[in-house]
Amino acid sequence: MRKVTVVGAGKYGSTTAEKIARMDLVDQVVMTDILEGTPQGLALDMNQARPVEKYRTLVVGTNDYADTAGSEVVVITAGSPRKPGMSRMDLLTVNAKVVKSVTEQIIQHSPEAILVVVTNPLDHMTTLAAEVSGLPKNKVMGQAGILDSSRLAHFISEMSGVDIFEVEALTLGSHGPTMVPVPSQCKVGGKSLEEVFSAEQIDGLIERTRGGGAEIVGLLKTGSAYYAPSSAAAAMVEAILTDSGAVLPVCAYTSGEYGVVHGYLGVPAKLGANGVEEIVELPLTETEMAALHEAADAVAANVAELHNVDYS
Ligand code: APR
Repeated sequence: MRKVTVVGAGKYGSTTAEKIARMDLVDQVVMTDILEGTPQGLALDMNQARPVEKYRTLVVGTNDYADTAGSEVVVITAGSPRKPGMSRMDLLTVNAKVVKSVTEQIIQHSPEAILVVVTNPLDHMTTLAAEVSGLPKNKVMGQAGILDSSRLAHFISEMSGVDIFEVEALTLGSHGPTMVPVPSQCKVGGKSLEEVFSAEQIDGLIERTRGGGAEIVGLLKTGSAYYAPSSAAAAMVEAILTDSGAVLPVCAYTSGEYGVVHGYLGVPAKLGANGVEEIVELPLTETEMAALHEAADAVAANVAELHNVDYS
């Protein structure tokens, strides 16, 4: 039986579970949470959509990790989202405890799983899940780059009036202030960003993308974004389950690629049945490369804080 687990049946987790179920690639999507009744109720609701949507995958809502046993891929969404005015780093201590405990229980029942982490602060929670699970680094990754790239593509399309399908955008680096938009890899209707926008407009697009999550948090007032984030996480799961070899921007473990010392960072990666099959080194401009190194340094400095967290 093919199985995927989503930990956390909140906004991000439930939308991710539903999107994976609709792909009809596995027999079960198990959704687990500490809240009793929530995953069960949501699963029942989703399963009743199957005759209309025409897919077979069953969503199993549970509070028991035994039901997650033998999962090929596990998406970790458990934890608190931001409140208006909070940075993702403000979530570090509370979410580190959650991600540590979830990872320990997941790995006990699915020792061969590939982990896709989405809980914020993303780069740090991905590093933590890798450390706690003891899995090979290629089997632990985080979701951020697909979402940030997609946000940038949306803003480019909106500002230029060019069809969203004719826009390509890429962001690398961290999921935070040192996010690295990569203008040299962006295309608008086959043209470069510089051909379509002024330098000021490009700066505006980049700033809006960097603050893309905070803009939504500010509007919602409670909770953070989950439609585009869950689409991004589901796309990673699809690439792994189908062994597609798709090259996607994800938070992956770098071992010297892009001149970055070992550590988790947003880079383009080929995804397949083994998780991260390869980190793809794109030709970046000097400015982009410098920004990527700055992001790597910032993440490394913050990751050190993880070891000061009191997990008791
Ligand atoms: N085990 C399982 N589930 C847990 C645990 C735990 N130890 N702790 C909390 N949860 C669950 C909560 O009960 C809740 O249902 O995680 C869920 C979080 O859901 P939401 O509050 O709706 O948050 P969501 O929008 O889904 O965001 C989750 O993703 O984007 C990030 O910053 C965001 O870190 C946050 C995460």
